[in-house]
Amino acid sequence: MVDVTELKRWSKRYPEFGTAPLPIEPCISQDYFEREREYVFLKCWLEVCREEEIPNPGDFFNRHIQICNTHVLLMRGDDGRIRAFHNMCSHRGNKLVWDESGCERSHACKFHGWVYDNQGRLVDVPDEANFFDLDKEKNGLTPIACDVWEGFVFVNLDPSPAQSLHDYLGGVVDMLAGFPFKKLKLGYAYKGNLACNWKIAVDSQQEAYHAVHLHRRTVGNAFISKENPFMHALDIQFFGPHRMISLAGYDHPLSPVEALAHKLGWTIKKKDHGFLDPDNMPKGVNPTRSKNWAFEIYLIFPNFWIATLDGAYQTHNFWPVAVDKMYQEIRMFINLPTNAGEVFATEYAKCINRDTWLEDFSTLETSQTVLGSGGKTHFILQDEEILLRHFYKVLNAYTHPQRQAAE
Ligand code: FES
Ligand SMILES: [Fe+2]
Repeated sequence: MVDVTELKRWSKRYPEFGTAPLPIEPCISQDYFEREREYVFLKCWLEVCREEEIPNPGDFFNRHIQICNTHVLLMRGDDGRIRAFHNMCSHRGNKLVWDESGCERSHACKFHGWVYDNQGRLVDVPDEANFFDLDKEKNGLTPIACDVWEGFVFVNLDPSPAQSLHDYLGGVVDMLAGFPFKKLKLGYAYKGNLACNWKIAVDSQQEAYHAVHLHRRTVGNAFISKENPFMHALDIQFFGPHRMISLAGYDHPLSPVEALAHKLGWTIKKKDHGFLDPDNMPKGVNPTRSKNWAFEIYLIFPNFWIATLDGAYQTHNFWPVAVDKMYQEIRMFINLPTNAGEVFATEYAKCINRDTWLEDFSTLETSQTVLGSGGKTHFILQDEEILLRHFYKVLNAYTHPQRQAAE
Protein backbone atom coordinates (compact mmCIF):
# COMPACT_ATOMS: atom_id res chain seq x y z
CA MET A 1 0.00 0.00 0.00
CA VAL A 2 1.32 3.41 -0.96
CA ASP A 3 1.24 5.91 1.88
CA VAL A 4 1.00 9.28 0.14
CA THR A 5 0.92 11.06 3.51
CA GLU A 6 4.44 9.98 4.44
CA LEU A 7 6.65 13.04 4.12
CA LYS A 8 10.02 13.11 2.38
CA ARG A 9 9.59 9.56 1.08
CA TRP A 10 11.63 10.07 -2.09
CA SER A 11 14.75 11.54 -0.51
CA LYS A 12 14.76 8.54 1.84
CA ARG A 13 14.40 6.13 -1.07
CA TYR A 14 16.86 7.95 -3.32
CA PRO A 15 19.40 9.67 -1.02
CA GLU A 16 21.91 9.88 -3.90
CA PHE A 17 20.11 12.93 -5.29
CA GLY A 18 20.53 14.98 -2.10
CA THR A 19 18.27 17.70 -0.76
CA ALA A 20 20.23 20.88 -1.53
CA PRO A 21 18.93 23.71 -3.73
CA LEU A 22 19.85 23.45 -7.44
CA PRO A 23 21.77 26.16 -9.35
CA ILE A 24 19.82 28.28 -11.84
CA GLU A 25 22.94 28.71 -13.97
CA PRO A 26 22.27 25.82 -16.43
CA CYS A 27 19.08 27.61 -17.52
CA ILE A 28 20.79 30.92 -18.36
CA SER A 29 24.33 30.00 -19.36
CA GLN A 30 25.43 30.16 -23.01
CA ASP A 31 28.35 27.89 -22.17
CA TYR A 32 26.01 25.28 -20.71
CA PHE A 33 23.83 25.49 -23.83
CA GLU A 34 26.87 24.85 -26.05
CA ARG A 35 27.75 21.84 -23.91
CA GLU A 36 24.18 20.53 -24.28
CA ARG A 37 24.56 20.78 -28.04
CA GLU A 38 27.89 18.97 -28.10
CA TYR A 39 27.44 16.33 -25.39
CA VAL A 40 23.68 15.75 -25.28
CA PHE A 41 21.77 16.56 -28.47
CA LEU A 42 24.57 15.47 -30.81
CA LYS A 43 25.05 12.24 -28.81
CA CYS A 44 21.70 10.97 -27.50
CA TRP A 45 18.78 9.24 -29.19
CA LEU A 46 16.08 11.83 -29.98
CA GLU A 47 12.43 11.06 -30.72
CA VAL A 48 11.39 12.68 -34.00
CA CYS A 49 8.03 11.22 -35.12
CA ARG A 50 5.68 8.23 -35.02
CA GLU A 51 6.11 5.39 -37.47
CA GLU A 52 2.48 5.80 -38.61
CA GLU A 53 3.23 9.37 -39.74
CA ILE A 54 5.17 7.83 -42.66
CA PRO A 55 3.25 4.57 -43.28
CA ASN A 56 3.74 4.12 -47.06
CA PRO A 57 6.75 3.81 -49.39
CA GLY A 58 7.88 7.31 -50.32
CA ASP A 59 6.37 9.00 -47.27
CA PHE A 60 8.68 11.53 -45.70
CA PHE A 61 8.78 13.82 -42.71
CA ASN A 62 11.10 16.73 -42.02
CA ARG A 63 12.33 17.51 -38.50
CA HIS A 64 14.26 20.74 -37.96
CA ILE A 65 16.64 20.24 -35.02
CA GLN A 66 17.93 23.75 -34.55
CA ILE A 67 20.34 23.03 -31.70
CA CYS A 68 22.11 20.51 -33.97
CA ASN A 69 22.05 22.89 -36.95
CA THR A 70 20.32 20.38 -39.17
CA HIS A 71 17.06 19.31 -40.75
CA VAL A 72 16.52 15.56 -40.44
CA LEU A 73 14.71 13.95 -43.35
CA LEU A 74 12.85 10.76 -42.38
CA MET A 75 11.86 8.70 -45.40
CA ARG A 76 10.23 5.35 -45.93
CA GLY A 77 11.89 3.83 -48.97
CA ASP A 78 10.29 1.77 -51.69
CA ASP A 79 11.73 -1.22 -49.77
CA GLY A 80 9.51 -0.30 -46.78
CA ARG A 81 12.39 0.68 -44.48
CA ILE A 82 12.48 3.97 -42.56
CA ARG A 83 15.77 5.86 -42.92
CA ALA A 84 17.01 9.23 -41.70
CA PHE A 85 19.32 11.64 -43.54
CA HIS A 86 20.67 15.13 -43.24
CA ASN A 87 18.29 17.01 -45.51
CA MET A 88 21.16 18.47 -47.49
CA CYS A 89 22.09 18.19 -51.14
CA SER A 90 25.52 16.69 -51.88
CA HIS A 91 26.26 19.31 -54.58
CA ARG A 92 26.40 22.73 -52.89
CA GLY A 93 24.55 21.98 -49.68
CA ASN A 94 21.06 23.27 -50.45
CA LYS A 95 18.24 21.97 -48.22
CA LEU A 96 16.86 19.22 -50.42
CA VAL A 97 13.22 18.71 -49.30
CA TRP A 98 11.34 21.83 -48.26
CA ASP A 99 7.89 20.42 -47.45
CA GLU A 100 7.23 19.34 -43.86
CA SER A 101 5.80 16.01 -45.00
CA GLY A 102 4.50 14.26 -48.11
CA CYS A 103 5.03 11.26 -50.38
CA GLU A 104 7.48 11.14 -53.33
CA ARG A 105 9.41 8.48 -55.24
CA SER A 106 12.30 10.88 -55.64
CA HIS A 107 13.38 14.38 -54.68
CA ALA A 108 14.97 16.90 -57.05
CA CYS A 109 17.09 19.66 -55.54
CA LYS A 110 15.62 23.08 -56.37
CA PHE A 111 19.06 24.62 -57.01
CA HIS A 112 20.64 22.64 -59.90
CA GLY A 113 18.33 19.63 -60.14
CA TRP A 114 20.31 16.72 -58.63
CA VAL A 115 17.83 13.89 -57.99
CA TYR A 116 17.75 11.44 -55.04
CA ASP A 117 15.45 8.43 -54.63
CA ASN A 118 13.46 7.71 -51.48
CA GLN A 119 16.29 5.53 -50.14
CA GLY A 120 18.67 8.49 -50.23
CA ARG A 121 20.63 7.40 -53.33
CA LEU A 122 21.80 10.00 -55.85
CA VAL A 123 20.21 8.88 -59.13
CA ASP A 124 20.57 11.79 -61.56
CA VAL A 125 22.95 14.71 -62.08
CA PRO A 126 22.25 17.19 -64.90
CA ASP A 127 25.30 17.72 -67.18
CA GLU A 128 27.05 14.95 -65.26
CA ALA A 129 29.87 14.51 -67.78
CA ASN A 130 31.17 18.02 -67.01
CA PHE A 131 32.04 17.09 -63.37
CA PHE A 132 35.38 15.65 -62.28
CA ASP A 133 35.40 11.95 -61.25
CA LEU A 134 31.92 12.28 -59.75
CA ASP A 135 30.82 8.93 -58.31
CA LYS A 136 27.04 9.01 -57.85
CA GLU A 137 27.16 5.93 -55.61
CA LYS A 138 29.36 7.72 -53.09
CA ASN A 139 27.35 10.93 -53.08
CA GLY A 140 23.91 10.00 -51.83
CA LEU A 141 22.34 11.80 -48.87
CA THR A 142 24.30 11.53 -45.60
CA PRO A 143 22.62 8.94 -43.38
CA ILE A 144 21.77 9.45 -39.70
CA ALA A 145 21.35 6.55 -37.24
CA CYS A 146 17.64 5.77 -36.95
CA ASP A 147 15.68 3.14 -35.02
CA VAL A 148 12.14 2.52 -33.81
CA TRP A 149 10.78 1.59 -30.35
CA GLU A 150 7.04 0.92 -29.89
CA GLY A 151 6.36 2.92 -33.06
CA PHE A 152 8.40 5.95 -31.87
CA VAL A 153 11.07 6.86 -34.42
CA PHE A 154 14.37 8.02 -32.90
CA VAL A 155 17.50 9.40 -34.53
CA ASN A 156 21.03 9.78 -33.23
CA LEU A 157 23.23 12.45 -34.80
CA ASP A 158 26.44 10.85 -33.57
CA PRO A 159 28.03 9.17 -36.64
CA SER A 160 28.76 6.16 -34.35
CA PRO A 161 26.24 6.11 -31.49
CA ALA A 162 27.67 4.74 -28.24
CA GLN A 163 24.59 2.53 -27.63
CA SER A 164 21.75 0.99 -29.60
CA LEU A 165 18.34 2.62 -29.04
CA HIS A 166 17.20 -0.45 -27.10
CA ASP A 167 20.19 -0.31 -24.74
CA TYR A 168 19.85 3.45 -24.38
CA LEU A 169 16.18 3.16 -23.30
CA GLY A 170 17.17 0.43 -20.81
CA GLY A 171 14.55 -0.24 -18.11
CA VAL A 172 11.87 1.88 -19.84
CA VAL A 173 11.51 -0.81 -22.54
CA ASP A 174 10.47 -3.41 -19.97
CA MET A 175 8.17 -1.02 -18.07
CA LEU A 176 6.10 -0.04 -21.10
CA ALA A 177 6.09 -3.35 -23.01
CA GLY A 178 2.47 -4.20 -23.77
CA PHE A 179 1.05 -0.65 -23.69
CA PRO A 180 -1.23 -0.40 -26.76
CA PHE A 181 0.64 2.53 -28.38
CA LYS A 182 -0.14 1.26 -31.87
CA LYS A 183 -3.89 1.02 -31.27
CA LEU A 184 -4.27 4.69 -30.38
CA LYS A 185 -4.33 7.40 -33.03
CA LEU A 186 -3.29 11.03 -33.09
CA GLY A 187 -6.36 12.94 -31.87
CA TYR A 188 -5.01 16.48 -31.61
CA ALA A 189 -1.73 18.35 -31.31
CA TYR A 190 -0.34 21.74 -30.33
CA LYS A 191 3.00 23.30 -31.20
CA GLY A 192 4.59 26.61 -30.45
CA ASN A 193 7.68 28.69 -29.76
CA LEU A 194 8.42 29.72 -26.21
CA ALA A 195 10.89 32.34 -25.01
CA CYS A 196 12.48 30.20 -22.33
CA ASN A 197 15.22 27.68 -21.81
CA TRP A 198 14.00 24.20 -22.77
CA LYS A 199 14.68 22.84 -19.27
CA ILE A 200 12.25 25.29 -17.67
CA ALA A 201 9.52 23.66 -19.76
CA VAL A 202 10.72 20.11 -19.02
CA ASP A 203 10.83 20.91 -15.31
CA SER A 204 7.24 22.16 -15.39
CA GLN A 205 6.23 18.71 -16.65
CA GLN A 206 8.16 16.57 -14.22
CA GLU A 207 6.51 17.41 -10.92
CA ALA A 208 2.89 17.54 -9.79
CA TYR A 209 3.48 19.98 -6.95
CA HIS A 210 2.31 22.86 -9.18
CA ALA A 211 -0.93 21.19 -10.27
CA VAL A 212 -3.06 21.89 -7.23
CA HIS A 213 -2.35 25.61 -7.42
CA LEU A 214 -1.69 26.42 -11.10
CA HIS A 215 -4.37 24.06 -12.43
CA ARG A 216 -7.02 24.74 -9.80
CA ARG A 217 -9.41 26.11 -12.47
CA THR A 218 -8.99 23.14 -14.86
CA VAL A 219 -7.85 19.72 -13.67
CA GLY A 220 -6.50 20.34 -10.16
CA ASN A 221 -9.54 18.99 -8.28
CA ALA A 222 -9.43 15.66 -10.15
CA PHE A 223 -6.06 14.77 -8.68
CA ILE A 224 -6.45 15.65 -5.02
CA SER A 225 -8.39 14.27 -2.09
CA LYS A 226 -8.57 14.74 1.65
CA GLU A 227 -5.83 12.17 2.16
CA ASN A 228 -3.70 13.49 -0.71
CA PRO A 229 -4.24 17.27 -0.82
CA PHE A 230 -0.92 18.11 -2.55
CA MET A 231 -0.95 15.47 -5.31
CA HIS A 232 1.84 13.38 -3.83
CA ALA A 233 3.03 10.70 -6.23
CA LEU A 234 2.16 7.02 -6.06
CA ASP A 235 5.59 6.03 -7.32
CA ILE A 236 8.82 7.48 -8.67
CA GLN A 237 11.49 5.42 -10.42
CA PHE A 238 14.71 6.07 -12.30
CA PHE A 239 16.19 4.12 -15.21
CA GLY A 240 19.69 5.34 -16.05
CA PRO A 241 19.15 8.83 -17.53
CA HIS A 242 15.35 8.35 -17.72
CA ARG A 243 12.68 8.71 -15.01
CA MET A 244 9.03 8.10 -14.18
CA ILE A 245 6.38 9.48 -11.84
CA SER A 246 3.06 7.70 -11.26
CA LEU A 247 0.13 9.85 -10.11
CA ALA A 248 -3.29 9.34 -8.55
CA GLY A 249 -6.75 10.66 -9.43
CA TYR A 250 -9.83 10.93 -7.25
CA ASP A 251 -13.58 11.32 -7.57
CA HIS A 252 -14.58 14.96 -7.59
CA PRO A 253 -17.75 17.03 -8.08
CA LEU A 254 -18.60 17.36 -11.78
CA SER A 255 -19.98 20.37 -13.61
CA PRO A 256 -23.06 19.56 -15.78
CA VAL A 257 -21.05 19.67 -19.04
CA GLU A 258 -18.29 17.54 -17.54
CA ALA A 259 -20.82 14.96 -16.33
CA LEU A 260 -22.30 14.78 -19.83
CA ALA A 261 -18.84 14.32 -21.42
CA HIS A 262 -18.04 11.56 -18.92
CA LYS A 263 -21.27 9.81 -19.79
CA LEU A 264 -20.68 9.99 -23.55
CA GLY A 265 -17.02 9.04 -23.94
CA TRP A 266 -13.38 9.30 -22.88
CA THR A 267 -12.30 12.39 -20.99
CA ILE A 268 -9.01 13.23 -19.37
CA LYS A 269 -10.51 13.49 -15.89
CA LYS A 270 -12.66 10.38 -15.93
CA LYS A 271 -11.61 7.45 -13.77
CA ASP A 272 -12.32 3.76 -14.46
CA HIS A 273 -12.02 3.91 -18.25
CA GLY A 274 -11.65 0.15 -18.65
CA PHE A 275 -9.55 0.44 -21.81
CA LEU A 276 -6.53 -1.33 -20.35
CA ASP A 277 -7.01 -4.87 -19.07
CA PRO A 278 -6.51 -4.57 -15.27
CA ASP A 279 -5.24 -8.17 -15.08
CA ASN A 280 -2.73 -7.64 -17.84
CA MET A 281 -1.29 -4.17 -17.32
CA PRO A 282 2.24 -3.35 -18.48
CA LYS A 283 4.61 -3.48 -15.53
CA GLY A 284 5.22 0.26 -15.68
CA VAL A 285 1.60 1.39 -15.95
CA ASN A 286 0.13 1.81 -12.47
CA PRO A 287 3.28 0.11 -11.10
CA THR A 288 1.96 0.20 -7.52
CA ARG A 289 -1.39 -1.26 -8.69
CA SER A 290 -3.17 1.50 -6.75
CA LYS A 291 -6.96 1.75 -6.92
CA ASN A 292 -6.48 5.51 -7.21
CA TRP A 293 -4.11 5.40 -10.19
CA ALA A 294 -4.58 8.05 -12.90
CA PHE A 295 -1.46 8.20 -15.11
CA GLU A 296 2.33 8.06 -15.40
CA ILE A 297 4.80 10.45 -16.88
CA TYR A 298 7.92 8.93 -18.45
CA LEU A 299 10.77 11.29 -19.28
CA ILE A 300 13.11 9.87 -21.89
CA PHE A 301 16.37 11.79 -21.65
CA PRO A 302 16.95 14.40 -22.89
CA ASN A 303 13.75 15.92 -24.27
CA PHE A 304 10.95 13.39 -24.81
CA TRP A 305 7.98 12.97 -22.46
CA ILE A 306 5.24 10.31 -22.54
CA ALA A 307 2.17 10.16 -20.32
CA THR A 308 0.36 6.81 -20.13
CA LEU A 309 -3.34 6.90 -19.30
CA ASP A 310 -6.15 4.37 -19.48
CA GLY A 311 -7.31 4.86 -23.08
CA ALA A 312 -4.82 7.50 -24.24
CA TYR A 313 -1.22 8.57 -24.25
CA GLN A 314 0.28 11.99 -24.63
CA THR A 315 3.73 13.11 -25.76
CA HIS A 316 5.78 16.27 -25.45
CA ASN A 317 8.95 17.09 -27.36
CA PHE A 318 10.97 19.94 -25.88
CA TRP A 319 13.38 21.28 -28.54
CA PRO A 320 16.07 23.78 -27.54
CA VAL A 321 16.55 26.63 -30.02
CA ALA A 322 18.78 29.03 -28.06
CA VAL A 323 19.67 29.40 -24.41
CA ASP A 324 16.41 31.32 -23.89
CA LYS A 325 14.26 29.95 -26.73
CA MET A 326 12.59 26.64 -27.44
CA TYR A 327 10.02 24.93 -29.59
CA GLN A 328 7.49 22.57 -28.06
CA GLU A 329 5.20 19.98 -29.58
CA ILE A 330 2.40 18.26 -27.70
CA ARG A 331 0.43 15.36 -29.12
CA MET A 332 -2.53 13.45 -27.73
CA PHE A 333 -3.19 9.91 -28.98
CA ILE A 334 -6.67 8.52 -28.37
CA ASN A 335 -9.34 6.14 -29.60
CA LEU A 336 -10.77 8.27 -32.38
CA PRO A 337 -14.45 9.07 -31.77
CA THR A 338 -16.96 7.02 -33.74
CA ASN A 339 -20.24 8.76 -32.92
CA ALA A 340 -21.57 12.21 -32.05
CA GLY A 341 -21.46 11.58 -28.29
CA GLU A 342 -17.80 10.57 -28.44
CA VAL A 343 -17.01 13.60 -30.60
CA PHE A 344 -18.52 15.78 -27.88
CA ALA A 345 -16.49 14.02 -25.15
CA THR A 346 -13.29 14.31 -27.23
CA GLU A 347 -13.86 18.02 -27.86
CA TYR A 348 -14.43 18.50 -24.15
CA ALA A 349 -11.17 16.65 -23.32
CA LYS A 350 -9.36 18.70 -25.97
CA CYS A 351 -10.46 21.99 -24.40
CA ILE A 352 -9.54 20.88 -20.88
CA ASN A 353 -6.15 19.76 -22.15
CA ARG A 354 -5.55 22.99 -24.05
CA ASP A 355 -6.47 25.13 -21.06
CA THR A 356 -4.22 23.07 -18.78
CA TRP A 357 -1.27 23.47 -21.16
CA LEU A 358 -1.90 27.20 -21.43
CA GLU A 359 -1.76 27.38 -17.65
CA ASP A 360 1.53 25.47 -17.76
CA PHE A 361 3.03 27.75 -20.41
CA SER A 362 1.89 30.88 -18.58
CA THR A 363 4.76 30.73 -16.08
CA LEU A 364 7.61 29.65 -18.35
CA GLU A 365 8.39 32.83 -20.27
CA THR A 366 7.88 35.04 -17.23
CA SER A 367 10.30 32.84 -15.28
CA GLN A 368 12.94 33.22 -17.99
CA THR A 369 12.70 37.03 -17.86
CA VAL A 370 13.97 37.08 -14.27
CA LEU A 371 16.17 33.97 -14.02
CA GLY A 372 19.19 35.92 -15.28
CA SER A 373 18.72 38.77 -12.83
CA GLY A 374 20.97 37.28 -10.16
CA GLY A 375 18.20 38.01 -7.65
CA LYS A 376 18.23 34.31 -6.85
CA THR A 377 20.97 31.87 -7.73
CA HIS A 378 19.27 28.57 -6.83
CA PHE A 379 15.96 26.74 -7.11
CA ILE A 380 14.62 25.40 -3.79
CA LEU A 381 13.05 21.97 -4.29
CA GLN A 382 10.77 19.93 -2.08
CA ASP A 383 10.57 16.14 -1.93
CA GLU A 384 8.01 15.71 -4.73
CA GLU A 385 10.29 17.62 -7.11
CA ILE A 386 13.00 14.94 -6.97
CA LEU A 387 12.76 14.23 -10.71
CA LEU A 388 14.37 17.63 -11.32
CA ARG A 389 17.29 16.58 -9.11
CA HIS A 390 17.80 13.44 -11.19
CA PHE A 391 17.50 15.41 -14.47
CA TYR A 392 20.18 17.96 -13.55
CA LYS A 393 22.48 15.31 -12.11
CA VAL A 394 22.28 13.34 -15.37
CA LEU A 395 22.63 16.49 -17.47
CA ASN A 396 25.67 17.68 -15.50
CA ALA A 397 27.31 14.28 -16.02
CA TYR A 398 26.69 14.44 -19.79
CA THR A 399 27.72 18.07 -20.22
CA HIS A 400 30.89 17.80 -18.13
CA PRO A 401 32.38 14.41 -19.05
CA GLN A 402 35.88 15.42 -17.92
CA ARG A 403 34.66 16.53 -14.47
CA GLN A 404 32.72 13.25 -14.22
CA ALA A 405 35.78 11.17 -15.12
CA ALA A 406 37.89 12.96 -12.48
CA GLU A 407 35.35 12.29 -9.69
S1 FES B 1 22.84 22.44 -54.45
FE1 FES B 1 21.53 20.80 -54.95
S2 FES B 1 21.76 20.55 -57.07
FE2 FES B 1 23.11 22.13 -56.58
FE1 LIG C 1 0.92 21.30 -15.37
